[in-house]
This record gives sequence, structure tokens and C-alpha cells, in this order.
Amino acid sequence: MNITIKHVKETDHPCDALILPLCEGERIAPYQDIDGALNGSLGKIMASRDFSGKLNQASLVHTLNAIKPRRVLLVGMGKRGELSSERIRQAGGKAASYLDGLNLRSASLAVRYILSIKASPVPFVEGALLSLYKFRKYKEDKSQNGLEALTVLGKYEKAFHDSIRWAEKISSAVHFARDLVNSPSNDMTPSVLARVARGIGRGKVSVKVLDRDDAEREGMGAYLSVAKGSGEPCRFIVLKYSGGEGAPVVLIGKSITFDSGGISIKPSEGMERMKYDMAGGAAVLALIRVASEGNLRLNLVGILPAAENLPGGRASKPGDIVRAISGKTIEIINTDAEGRLVLADAIGYAQKMKPRAIIDIATLTGACSVALGNEAIAMMGNDEGLMSGLKTAGEKTHERVWQMPLFDEYLEYIKSDIADIKNSGGKTGSLVTAGYFLKEFAGKTPWVHLDIAGTAWAEKDKPYIPKGASGVGVRLLSQFLKECIHEDS
Ligand code: BES
Ligand code: MN
Ligand code: ZN
Repeated sequence: MNITIKHVKETDHPCDALILPLCEGERIAPYQDIDGALNGSLGKIMASRDFSGKLNQASLVHTLNAIKPRRVLLVGMGKRGELSSERIRQAGGKAASYLDGLNLRSASLAVRYILSIKASPVPFVEGALLSLYKFRKYKEDKSQNGLEALTVLGKYEKAFHDSIRWAEKISSAVHFARDLVNSPSNDMTPSVLARVARGIGRGKVSVKVLDRDDAEREGMGAYLSVAKGSGEPCRFIVLKYSGGEGAPVVLIGKSITFDSGGISIKPSEGMERMKYDMAGGAAVLALIRVASEGNLRLNLVGILPAAENLPGGRASKPGDIVRAISGKTIEIINTDAEGRLVLADAIGYAQKMKPRAIIDIATLTGACSVALGNEAIAMMGNDEGLMSGLKTAGEKTHERVWQMPLFDEYLEYIKSDIADIKNSGGKTGSLVTAGYFLKEFAGKTPWVHLDIAGTAWAEKDKPYIPKGASGVGVRLLSQFLKECIHEDS
């Protein structure tokens, strides 16, 4: 959808629908003049309680040539006292998907009410953009008809124009990540991921792809042990964005293009979902794009240890011991705990760049969704400063993070009798023991782990996240990089 900003009276801008956001319990007063032009029909709808302004409620009125917009859409934002940028974002998503569902092409947004209550209309626009995502690649009918243009009405300072452009960049990066994750594993192999990464490489972004032999030379025994059960060649993808001075921030995204569990095979029910086990990697690719398009002043590295976890004739077996790039030996108790194996080597590889911080993002444990449902990212790490920055970014973007502990006692859970460490401590505490395992490879480098197993996939439509891949992490980390890293470097 195309966003334009135009200084013209709401009733004078021709379009399929003029969107009027309103809080619950308000009268039509803020839109008195528009209601007047429509012979009081808006006030009527409210008096009759057809529309009360409840969050995400929508009511459409035909304007019968009384004003230039052909329709007016009232959209509810909930009680004024409970208003938040998230609710505004949701209302934007609701309004846009509602109009899109009616196959309308153009809309305009009246901002006077939102501005009058000292809120920003930017989240409304962002929600609208995010909600219009469609994954049609595999449908005969690929048409993307629907809402094509949104005009934000009013006269603004440059800063407002900039934040609308930023919201467009971010939403398009989220759509890009969703596309990668929704794509089935037969079309989203490690090699395809590498090709997508190369496509991002231009200007300040360079891309290096390591194959199996390269990884072997590097000593990435943990990563390779995951890849070897599949005939699909693995790709260890490294992207470097050079936009500033100093040590880089390294983002590592788990990129298992399909997780069958390997020899410790998963139950078949719901296994098709495991194509989303590269959602972390997709987010990292999208973030490199954001950094480069947004010209962020920082150095950023993205690492995607991409592989397929299958139970082939050469697959790792429970009990196998492998050596990670750091030199540590790992006893593989469960081949389904493959994420931490590929991340261990990615973290080890990142260490060589003497990074300022490492952030990994991964669909790492089923226990993450057991603990937090689909509402929050589980966060663990060894650096309170980084984590507090991520908390703030999480609140701003509503990609909320919730900190989990890494008590020393958890080390006991993953001690191996014969190797330095084992890859599974069993069911008890499996969300945090996975984090603790990674911590052993992060050493003293400031590091944060984000488990997105519960948030990377929407089981049902949400106001601005259609069912399927959510693209989680892109908005969170864009916000974090822009505010916490970009600004002070
Ligand atoms: N990719 C899965 C985690 C997962 C499971 C994400 C379900 C989303 C939904 C991961 O590789 C895995 O299988 N983890 C195991 C670890 C266990 C064997 C210690 C798990 O969580 O069951
Ligand atoms: Mn697994
Ligand atoms: Zn996995």
C-alpha cells in the first residue's frame, strides 16, 4: 500500500473511504462538521449504539455524494484512558483490513482526533501497513487487489514525514521476513536463503557464504552435526553492514529450514509447522535490509547458520559427541535440540569479530510457548544494559520481551558425564537450560538470547498480524538498533 501525506480538507479528498478513528464513550463532537455534512448520520449511528468506539470496532457509512469521500469508516480505539500506541496500531490494522476485505482501493485518514488527544497517528499507519500482508505465491489467484493507497491528511513537520517513511521501511521488511518464513521448506532451503542474502548485498552490505567444507575448516562440528542428516547442502551465511565506527553488533538468527527433530524425530502431528524454524534467520535478513535502507550509523553483522534437520542415514545419533568451534565438546542427548548446536557455532564464529554485543534470535524451545503463550519473547542474557534496552524497545513496538533467569544452578542440568556439556537437560526448565547452554558459548561477550518460538507464528488472525508467520523481531530489533545503538555511536 502506498502512503501519501496531503494537506487538504477531509471532506474534499476523493477516495473510497475516509477513516475516522474514535475512542469509546466519546460523542461525534470531534467530527461535528463532517457529521453535519452527512445530515447527522454519524451521530445517529452512535446514538443507536451501532458504533460505540470499542477497540477494533468498525462501522461503514455511505456518504451519497454529500462529501468527496464515498464512504466514512468509523473505527474504535477503546476507552480513552486505556489508549496506547498499540491500540492505535491495532485500530489501524482493523480499519485497513476491513476496507481491503471489501476490495476498496483508496482511503484517507483523518488525524485531528488522534492529535487532539496528544497521540501520534504513526502507529495507526504502521498497523494498516502491517495488516495488509498476503501470502499468495502458491495460489492460482495471485491478485493482490484491495487497499492500494492511504492518504494521511494534514500538514506536518519533516519529522512526521520521516517517521512515516520509517514505518513504511519497517513494514516492508516485516513483509519480507513473513514471506521467507511462510515459504515451505522445499522452496526455502539453506541454499535459497543464501541466495536471498546475496540479494541484500550491495553498497554497505557484503555477504559471505560458507559451505560444508568451509565450515569444516573453521571447526564448526556442532553446526555440521545438525546438517549431515540431510541431502540438502548447508549454508553458513554471514552478512556485514558497515555503516559506522567501532565494534559490530552481531545478530544471529536460527535458520533451520526444516526441523523434523532428526533421529529424535518429532510426532507427525503439526510437523508441517517446523518450516518456521528459520524465523530467527528471516528476521536477521530483514534487519540487515533495514539497517542498509535506513542508513543506520553502526556496524552490524548478521549470521544465519542454515541447515535442515533430518533423520538421514548419515544423521547424528543420540549419544554422539561433537566439537564446537570454541573447542568445547558437546554430547548430543537429543537430536531435536539442534538449534542450540548451530547457535553455539554461530556464537563462536561471532566471537572472532570481537563484537560489542551478540544478540541471537531463535525459535528455540517448545517450552517458550508453554511458559509465555504467544504473547511474549523469552529473553535471557548476561548483560543487564542490553536487556533493559530491549525491554524498552519491546514496549514501544509491542513485540514484548520477558526476562527469564540464568541461575548458576542450571549448569548442573546440562553437565555431561563424558563431554564438556550436553545439548539437553530434559524437560525440566528446558526454556532456561537452552539459554544457559548458549551462555556457555557467549563467555564474557555481552550477549542476549531471544526465544521467539511462541511469537513467530500466529495461529489465528490478529489485528495487524494475519494468520501465519508474524515477522516478529524485525520491529523489536529495528527499534532497539535505532534508539540504543545508532544514537549513541
Ligand atoms: N524448533 C524446536 C522448538 C520449537 C518447538 C519451536 C515447537 C516451536 C514449536 C527446537 O529445535 C526443539 O525441537 N526443541 C526441543 C528441545 C528439547 C529436545 C530439549 C523442544 O523444545 O522440545
Ligand atoms: Mn528441534
Ligand atoms: Zn528447531
